[in-house]
Amino acid sequence: MEKILVTGGCGFIGSNFIRLLLQKDLPWDIVNFDLLTYAGNLANLKDWQNHPRLKFFKGDIADRQAVDQVFSQGITRVVHFAAESHVDRSILDSGPFIRTNVVGTQVLLDSARSHKVTKFVHVSTDEVYGSLGDSGFFTEETPLAPNSPYSASKAASDLIVRSYVHTFHFPAVITRCSNNYGPYQFPEKLIPLFISNLCRNEPVPVYGDGLNVRDWIHVEDHCKGILAVLEKGQPGEVYNLGGKSERTNMELTKALLQSLGKPDSLIRYVKDRPGHDRRYAIDCSKAEKELGWQPQWVFENGLQETVRWYLDNPEWVNSIRTGDYLRYYQTQYGNS
Ligand code: NAD
Ligand code: TYD
Repeated sequence: MEKILVTGGCGFIGSNFIRLLLQKDLPWDIVNFDLLTYAGNLANLKDWQNHPRLKFFKGDIADRQAVDQVFSQGITRVVHFAAESHVDRSILDSGPFIRTNVVGTQVLLDSARSHKVTKFVHVSTDEVYGSLGDSGFFTEETPLAPNSPYSASKAASDLIVRSYVHTFHFPAVITRCSNNYGPYQFPEKLIPLFISNLCRNEPVPVYGDGLNVRDWIHVEDHCKGILAVLEKGQPGEVYNLGGKSERTNMELTKALLQSLGKPDSLIRYVKDRPGHDRRYAIDCSKAEKELGWQPQWVFENGLQETVRWYLDNPEWVNSIRTGDYLRYYQTQYGNS
């Protein structure tokens, strides 16, 4: 039986990915290894935590001993999500980003290599390519030009992965995806933050002129792309994944206001994020051609479904607002 290690499986995308694997009933054992930082929430997999093919281990990807212990359980493939992921936090303090995203990835790679894994999917971001002007798209050949400490730490990890492929013939594949949205996203990112503020009739902070552009992909489409890469991706290759749904932040904000029936007076233009990238746009034709994958969600439908999910799960958002989710581990697993 294949044993898949998923790092960061208690975060937004990792938990959606594990749910996809279990729903598909693939014949794989899954090991979820997560440090449960502020962004990790066991409740993201609440309905699945007793599944016989899912095991959880709390640990740090930068801790070689803990990582070796997990690999020695017979891990055959890895999907590496664990990261510090929020740009604004990286501007306040880049330290944890370098430690987890760079050192953590290197530690994982060394352990994975010595345990002879057959596939390592490194989940990265389109932000490593930097910022675009009004036209053009990022392809896999676009030079890396990260602008924030977050994207620089991800680009560094991508380069370390690349060097292991080149030097050791290590079977790694890199994915670079655009902005995700959907259920279980931590309410510090634009969409869940704005939904949860608007539900409370609180204002929403739009950075700068609100005309920065992001390409939005439903997390389910991203996870299906990662699964396609896990199954069919060629070692050493990079695959861009995107949602083909570019929107300005203002278009998105207006859509959320309309969907929740809230007035434009709740919009607050605030000081811009330092170094704020203007536009991201992804050319994902390589993944479409070579993996037979393509994004399925129509953005407006996906956004509606996402708003519905947050309205239907107020206790999930509230537990984060009150900090109760951080205590969930103790109630389920005792003291760490
Ligand atoms: P997230 O912040 O929601 O979750 C990160 C998870 O990693 C959390 O569960 C956290 O506890 C865990 N983690 C953090 N540090 C760890 C450590 N040292 N050891 C073990 N676990 C640790 O992030 P996300 O949005 O789910 O993103 C997952 C991955 O996808 C990241 O690598 C990110 O760069 C990439 N990505 C995200 C997006 C996006 O729009 N969110 C887009 C493209 C790529
Ligand atoms: P975010 O969700 O942080 O993702 P990223 O910076 O990785 O793309 O932000 C998405 C866009 O929304 C980005 O242009 C910054 C902007 N933004 C705001 O205008 N206000 C906010 O409160 C946040 C969190 C983001």
